[in-house]
This record gives sequence, structure tokens and C-alpha cells, in this order.
Amino acid sequence: MKTRLFTALILAAIIAPASLFAQTPVEKEFKVKQRYLNIPVYDDRPSARLLFTTKGVDTLDVDVWIAQGEPMYWVYKDLTPYMGKKLKLTYFGDPADMDKLFVADTIMGQSTFYKEAKRPQFHFTTIRGWNNDPNGMVYYNGEYHLYYQHNPYKRYWGNMHWGHAVSRDLVHWEEFDDVLFPDNLGTMFSGSAVVDKNNTSGWGKKGVAPIVYAYTAHAQWQTQCMAYSLDGGRTLVKYENNPVVNSHEAAGSHETRDPRLLWYGGEDGHWVMVLFEKDGNSIYTSNDLKNWTYKSHVPGFDECPDLFCLPVDGNPANKKWVTLGAAGIYMIGDFDGERFTPEAGRYQYMTGVPYAAQTFSDTPDGRCIQIAWGRVSHAGMPFNSQMQLPTELTLRTTRHGVRLASNPVKEVESLLHRQFTAPGVMNADDVNKVLAKFTDPDQGLHIKATVKLDASCWVAFKMNGKEFFEYSPSFGLFNGAFYSTEDITGLSFPIEFYIDRTGVEVFVDNGLYSWSGQLNCASDSRLFSFEGWAATLYEVVIDTVESIW
Ligand code: FRU
Repeated sequence: MKTRLFTALILAAIIAPASLFAQTPVEKEFKVKQRYLNIPVYDDRPSARLLFTTKGVDTLDVDVWIAQGEPMYWVYKDLTPYMGKKLKLTYFGDPADMDKLFVADTIMGQSTFYKEAKRPQFHFTTIRGWNNDPNGMVYYNGEYHLYYQHNPYKRYWGNMHWGHAVSRDLVHWEEFDDVLFPDNLGTMFSGSAVVDKNNTSGWGKKGVAPIVYAYTAHAQWQTQCMAYSLDGGRTLVKYENNPVVNSHEAAGSHETRDPRLLWYGGEDGHWVMVLFEKDGNSIYTSNDLKNWTYKSHVPGFDECPDLFCLPVDGNPANKKWVTLGAAGIYMIGDFDGERFTPEAGRYQYMTGVPYAAQTFSDTPDGRCIQIAWGRVSHAGMPFNSQMQLPTELTLRTTRHGVRLASNPVKEVESLLHRQFTAPGVMNADDVNKVLAKFTDPDQGLHIKATVKLDASCWVAFKMNGKEFFEYSPSFGLFNGAFYSTEDITGLSFPIEFYIDRTGVEVFVDNGLYSWSGQLNCASDSRLFSFEGWAATLYEVVIDTVESIW
């Protein structure tokens, strides 16, 4: 009995520190004179809470994974909002960890930003930490804003903030500080943005139309909140009467999230919020972006809804509405401002790593431009995941009826440098001889061709001898998913590859079907090749893709 008690006491002593520290936080107070708090990270350490408290700024409460010994990598917190003020840090972990944090005018590792060995070269990635869904995508005053689900303190999901990057041309991005931080309503889940041109919200000021944001606060219940920006999207002000939609009881589910805003109709139109609730996309309407009324629901979707109107084959007299969910499943139909009536679907236009795509609001030329989260990882890097290339969505009449197509925006062409063209036919051996000249694993590649097969044939595209994309006409399967090509025989189709350091995007039939995936390339060489019995390629084009950094 005694021995048992003794063992229990020893065990308690070993286990105690974590819970003990949890109750006795350590505090450090200082006047902020330098911009960054540098934090060393060890991924496998249990997290501990770190609080940032100062007068006039909401307390920030986040989880951190502070390394005790050699850190795996460093992350940072931009202290600009606290500059010149007294900041109190309260830490609920091992008090010794506090000494590992330091404030400086530079970020640890700053000189290596964008030069890291596995940083994708033409896909947006965050400087530090984790990203998932694109959020708040909006065009405003010459800038495309890409906000995103961001964990600034670790390269895995958690602590959801909204990160922020800006581009003038859709290909080069500049990262700014995070704009939405967890608060007492929860962590900052996905949402969207619109320009409130007529200041229906009243949040604008003379000569400045506000950008208005809707986002989900995630806690025990998921509620919908609003924020606005008057400085071109750099800083966001949360609405004091948040949340504006609290629907878990009515929806019969705690899953109510990812509000998508859009304007419906002309001058006397109204605002629409498409919200994922329980099993599909709900529609709410509003005149002022603050008061929202539930109108209808279309079941059959999961997370991150979108809703947009597109001309069929570019004909403005024949427009259709499309609604979709995070996995790229969509329906085509009609929308009267309050209710979406499905006419056709469910279809899928993209598979593989893309998820939770969103389209830009207020594009200057009316193009429907989408960016998807790319679930691609980059071994050993202090950041994780990426954004897929921006693609233009169009509706095209196919031999199956009207379908959604997704193709890289024309701006991507500005990164391409032509290396090889062959107008005629080439067999696999000849193509592979040419491809063998492009083995630099750091060099982005764009390859375009038309595949032509024999009925009993198959074709496989390989990276360093390992197949990553294959098709067999007898089964009609592209990497396991059935897709019926525009060529009714299934024996010929155009194909396009965008190959980055860690991922590849593949577009078939001019974007009617696409697949993207992870690439695990050997670090010193990368050989793209193609194999297929009696398979040939027509009109082969090879371009290198310039780095965006
Ligand atoms: C989709 C998603 C969203 C949610 C966000 C949280 O990837 O689950 O539904 O808002 O991620 O990060």
C-alpha cells in the first residue's frame, strides 16, 4: 500500500509541472520600443497560453509552443499596435520559457525570407506559420486583397487569425501583418469581403468607401461577425454589436460558418450572405450589412460556400448562377436574391489538394477569379500549406451541358519563358529526351500538350520515376476520378501542368477538369517524364516559370 502511495506521489511530482504552471502564470511588463516579439518554436511541445495585455487594445490570448532547447524554427508577433505603450505578457507555461522570447526591430531569420530551400516559387505562402482557406478576397483601389486563415505561432492549424497579403497583378504578393485576432467571441474563422460603394453600412467616411468583412467567430457556438476597413484593408475595425447572426438554434447545428457576402441586383438591390449551416448553404439578406434576415437553404454542401453569376459561353444574355462548397462540388441554377433554385448538378470541377476556394469581390473587369487553399506541405520549412494559382471561372457549354471551367488567370503568363515548342506529334521517348533537360528541382515548369491515345492504351506522368497523374481511357479515370473528356472517344484531350517545388497543378480539357497534388521531389534533381503504350503528345510547349519572390 505504502509503495503504491509512494509511486503515486513520484508520478504526481513528474506530472505536476504542467498543471502547476497552468495555475501560476508568469508576467513580464515592458514599454514597446521595437517592432517584433521573436518566439522560438518546438512543434512537439505542449502548448501554453500567452496573453498580450495593454490599455486600449483587446487582450490577445493565444497558444504558443516555445522551444526550451534548440528551436525548430522561429515565429514572430508584430507589436505595431502596442508601439510606445506598456505591454504585459502573461504566460501560463514553464516560467523559464519567458526568457527565450525577445523583442527586436528585426525578425529572426528575416534575411532568409523567400530564399528558403522548399519555398514554392510561384504559389503564395505565408512567411511563418500555417495557412488554410483564403478569406475576404476583394479588389479595392488597384489592389487585390488576399486574407487567409493563419496560425502565426506554429506551422500547424490552430489560433485562427486572418493573415493578409496584397497584389497588384494577381501573381506577386506582399504580406502584411495579420488583421483579425482571436477575441472573447472566439477565434477568427473564414469569411469574405465586399466594397460598400454606397456606404449602406454607414461605416464609410467622406470620399472613402469602406471594405466590409463578414467572418465567423468560433467558440462553443459559431457566430457571424462584421468588421470594416477605412485604410485600404490594412487594419480592420470589428463592429461593436457583433455577432450579427447567431443561428445555431435555428439551424439545429453548431456548424454555422464561413459567411460569403455579395450584392444582388442594381441600385435598389440588397446584400446577400451565403452561410454554411449544418448540411448546406443558407441565404440571409440585409440592407445595411448589420441586420440580417434568414431566407432559404440549399442542402448538399459542406463549408466555405460561394455564390456567383456567370454568362454561359460569354453571352451576357444567358447568365446562370453557381453555388458551391469547399470540396469544389457545385450546382448550377437560378437565384432571385433570396433563394437559389438548383437546375443541374452536383458536379465537381477540381480535385486533389485544392479546398475552400473563394472568388474575389469587385474585380475591375468583372472576371470571376478564384483562389483555392492548396493542401501542400514543404518538408522542414517554418511555414506550411499554400494558395493555388488564381484561376478564372467560366461557364461553358459542353457535350454534357453547361459546366464550370477553371483556368489560370492570364496574368500567370507573364511568368512564363518559352523553352521549347513542337507543333507536330512526339512519342514518349522523344518528349522525355526534351524533358530530361529540365531537371533543376527549383525551377518552375509549365508544360502544355494534347494527349492522343490508342483505345487500349494508358498514359502516366511521372516525377523522378514515380507516377503522380494517370489516365486510362477504358476506365475513364483521371487519377481515380471519372471524367468524360470533350472528345467523345476519350482518346484525346489537352493537358497543362504547372510544376512548382512541392506541388503540381494539372488542367485537363482547358480547365473543365483539374487535379492538383503534392510533389515529393528529391532535393538535388527533378525529372518529369511521361509514359504510355502507343501514347503520343501533340503541340508540346515547355516554359520555365519565373519566381514571384
Ligand atoms: C475550411 C474550414 C472552414 C473554417 C476554417 C477554420 O477549411 O474548416 O469551414 O472556417 O476552415 O480554419
